Amino acid sequence: MAFPVTRLRRLRQNEIFRAMVRETEVDCDDLIMPYFVCPGTGVKNPINSMPGNYQWSVDLLVEEVKDLVEKAGINKILLFGIPEHKDETGEVACHEDAIVPRAIRALRKEINNLLIVADVCNCEYTTHGHCGTIIDGDVNNDLTLKTLSEQSLTLARAGADIIAPSDMMDGRVAAIREMLDENGFSNTPIMAYSAKFASAFYGPFRDAAESAPKFGNRRTYQMDPANGNEALREVEEDIAEGADMVMVKPALSYLDVIRRVKDNYNMPLVAYNVSGEFSMVKAAAANGWIDESRIINEILTSIKRAGADVIITYHAKEFGLLKRAKK
Ligand code: PBG
Repeated sequence: MAFPVTRLRRLRQNEIFRAMVRETEVDCDDLIMPYFVCPGTGVKNPINSMPGNYQWSVDLLVEEVKDLVEKAGINKILLFGIPEHKDETGEVACHEDAIVPRAIRALRKEINNLLIVADVCNCEYTTHGHCGTIIDGDVNNDLTLKTLSEQSLTLARAGADIIAPSDMMDGRVAAIREMLDENGFSNTPIMAYSAKFASAFYGPFRDAAESAPKFGNRRTYQMDPANGNEALREVEEDIAEGADMVMVKPALSYLDVIRRVKDNYNMPLVAYNVSGEFSMVKAAAANGWIDESRIINEILTSIKRAGADVIITYHAKEFGLLKRAKK
């Protein structure tokens, strides 16, 4: 490349040029908006650490998701549940009248052309807040596979389009696949939280989902943030067990992992722009320190440029509204 013959600024001279050569553009079709659903009616409980996000009762969630689809042009959601009662193993989530299955049925009835991803995990449903069944003070991997696969079947029966296990137990994709297949859901895809790191960025989510562990931490099942090679092994394992889509989570501190997964596997790749990443933007914007809409666009674009095909983000609705306002 030889200056002055080569001048990269030539193609940056105005927005028409820049739009023409732009390599990456985030589209509403790429985005999934997470929601928290809780018992009761008429409940819209603000989550302090995640401005603009709420614990919604089923009736108000349906109205909110209608708004998401019609006004923001986002047609994919991810659901988390806050149950009435918790138990030792998370078995409460395996019943058809559990909070998320109820929400799914209501949404299915009221809204067309909506894709519902159901998160599968036990931490919102256990009294101790861990993602599995505790034996001798530790999460027992193989016992946990039972509640995970039963919860998955309940969610599929309620009408979930995609089952997304976020627990990080070994072998859970295979166990869930088998359960779904044996019960007539061989067409229901699994979106595996494959490389999920033990991250401080989940802090605000644990307020929202009331799912913080009551003792210890998640480091015996979620990954050490320092490990990239191991992330590829996790992804490989989930693909071998039958995952249809794989995920890297969180997104921003793990863009290198996203890129490595994309380069190594021909799989649809999801990145989760998690609660702490969202809340930092909100806090800085509330102080007038950053230009929020530009930051949102830059963050989502960077995640897509790193290799993500799909992005789960609490910014999804705002992004959709901004996109529409621009048109
Ligand atoms: C449940 C789960 C968590 C998140 C998604 N599913 C929290 C955790 O592992 O503690 C985090 C999402 C976010 O921070 O936005 N296992």
